[in-house]
Amino acid sequence: MQKSSRIDNSIYDSLGERWYTAFDDPVALLRAESRTKAPWVLEKMRGHFRERSDVRLLDIGCGAGFLTNEMAGHGFHVTGLDQSLQSLEVAKRYDATKSVDYVTGDAYSLPFADQSFDAVSAMDFLEHIDDPLRAIREMSRVLKPGGLFFFHTFNRNRLAQLVIIQLVEKLVKNTPKHMHVIELFITPEELVQMSHQAGLQVREMTGIRPRFSTLTLRSLFTGVVPEKFAFKLTRSLKLSYMGYAEKPLEQKK
Ligand SMILES: C[S@@+](CC[C@H](N)C(=O)[O-])C[C@H]1O[C@@H](n2cnc3c(N)ncnc32)[C@H](O)[C@@H]1O
Repeated sequence: MQKSSRIDNSIYDSLGERWYTAFDDPVALLRAESRTKAPWVLEKMRGHFRERSDVRLLDIGCGAGFLTNEMAGHGFHVTGLDQSLQSLEVAKRYDATKSVDYVTGDAYSLPFADQSFDAVSAMDFLEHIDDPLRAIREMSRVLKPGGLFFFHTFNRNRLAQLVIIQLVEKLVKNTPKHMHVIELFITPEELVQMSHQAGLQVREMTGIRPRFSTLTLRSLFTGVVPEKFAFKLTRSLKLSYMGYAEKPLEQKK
């Protein structure tokens, strides 16, 4: 398994219940953002797969299951893969359907057959690894033709460094060093290019940003993320963005 010399992915191993309960931690931002990301993914999945009841979704770097548990609740057959066994144990406890298949593994070498999933997702994940192209190629391999690849990541620019790294480190309590590193952030153009190299065509991208009110701003200066902190979609891809790509039907193996 390749590891960046700077990014610290071990922080997820020790979060435990805090994945779901902590507000004095940047994981509260991830949780809040997931409340906007998951409905968007759900809408696109429903639009694409219509009434099908046998849709299989694989979520890579699923952490404690913010997307997987939500999607399982909507009737999808979900597999969640992560290298952090501790996170998967939490994910399992919060899976109300008790249907999600949680698997430990490495995104660079997925323990699944070619073309075995209808959709694959990588939310807040690609900027945690050194070789996102390699991981996207692996995801494309296990995706069926006509299937969808969902992603969420952060753009790489000075503003993103300031807001997503420096401001979060300064404002939110218990933000570990090297939770994010600017070098691993990915521009939308790079994501389109990597998807293309992996045989996938990006269909749509949208920005996502905090919904600020004076109350939430004020509370943020206490170092604690307010319970009602929320995100919304925005046209700008300058900071945080998500989207999906499709694996063309006619693609030859
Ligand atoms: C920021 S968390 C995102 C979790 C989840 N996708 C979400 O949006 O809540 C990144 C996750 O990627 C996992 N991870 C990092 N490198 C990985 C790898 N090479 N293979 C599988 N999982 C990995 C970490 O353990 C962590 O749970």
